[in-house]
Amino acid sequence: MSYAQIDLRDKPALEQLFASTKFNAVIHFAGLKAVGESVEKPFMYYNNNIIGTITLLEVMAAHGCKRLVFSSSATVYGWPNEVPCTEEFPLSAANPYGRTKLFIEEICRDIYRSDSEWKIILLRYFNPVGAHPSGYIGEDPRGIPNNLMPFVQQVAVGRRPSLNVFGTDYSTKDGTGVRNYIHVVDLADGHIAALNKLSNPSIGCEVYNLGTGKGTSVLEMVAALEKASGKKIPLVMAGRRPGDSEIVYASTEKAERELNWRASYGIEEMCRDQWNWASKNPYGYGSPDSTA
Ligand code: UD1
Repeated sequence: MSYAQIDLRDKPALEQLFASTKFNAVIHFAGLKAVGESVEKPFMYYNNNIIGTITLLEVMAAHGCKRLVFSSSATVYGWPNEVPCTEEFPLSAANPYGRTKLFIEEICRDIYRSDSEWKIILLRYFNPVGAHPSGYIGEDPRGIPNNLMPFVQQVAVGRRPSLNVFGTDYSTKDGTGVRNYIHVVDLADGHIAALNKLSNPSIGCEVYNLGTGKGTSVLEMVAALEKASGKKIPLVMAGRRPGDSEIVYASTEKAERELNWRASYGIEEMCRDQWNWASKNPYGYGSPDSTA
């Protein structure tokens, strides 16, 4: 096993890698993912996410490696009219980041239509949280975290004073937004299940949700992390964040039926492992001086 750090847009470097190693399949996780940044810098998102993916697909095709697992996102459901989201729901995108995921999905469907030797699985992630149970691997966002749990984690370790709760007047159990959080280890297992599925002769280009199928509110998530950490998370009740949906959670039936995969961890384990990572690495992979 070896490691190479290559920008996916660097076609000659990718060519060299594929010429020197025979790959059975590719799991493509590489991409920019900050929604706000994508609105400000659409060129950067389209260039990095889409051109990077097209270059990768071209090089894979040229070297006869036509098996791909791609990290898509529940963001392609836009603002769903109903829940749970099934894979057949209409697709839309609310921002350039989301559009890159949607376009890449469409590109993959077109490529399969043009050449049925391709086997492609698009995985629509819901809200990945938690950390590896060892406490050695976790999320360490640069700057102010956009997503809920990295922010809550930084409040719990004392790096930020309080959490803004974006929206308290939604038609949900407690008025706060509901999402489908999934433990990163379950998410990783979903990729193994997808890789196994790629050896099935009848697979073409398929899409699967990776979620637990359970909706959890912001306040429920905060309470679970408070319990796991023994820390109080001070809250500031704030207005809705523009562009946010009210309730999004996955239908997990297709993945259970066809990938033989189902998430095994609940929010208690997600918060336990998130806190284990956070308490051992309060400044992530950096030091107090190196983070904003
Ligand atoms: C966000 C992205 C989505 C992406 C997903 C990946 C936006 C608008 N959407 O979705 O495109 O695919 O992450 O995981 O950024 N919240 C607070 N306070 C905070 C942060 C979040 O109350 O400081 C609330 C949000 O309003 C929401 C919930 O927590 O109800 C989850 O937010 P977040 O973690 O950003 O995920 P998504 O909104 O689902």
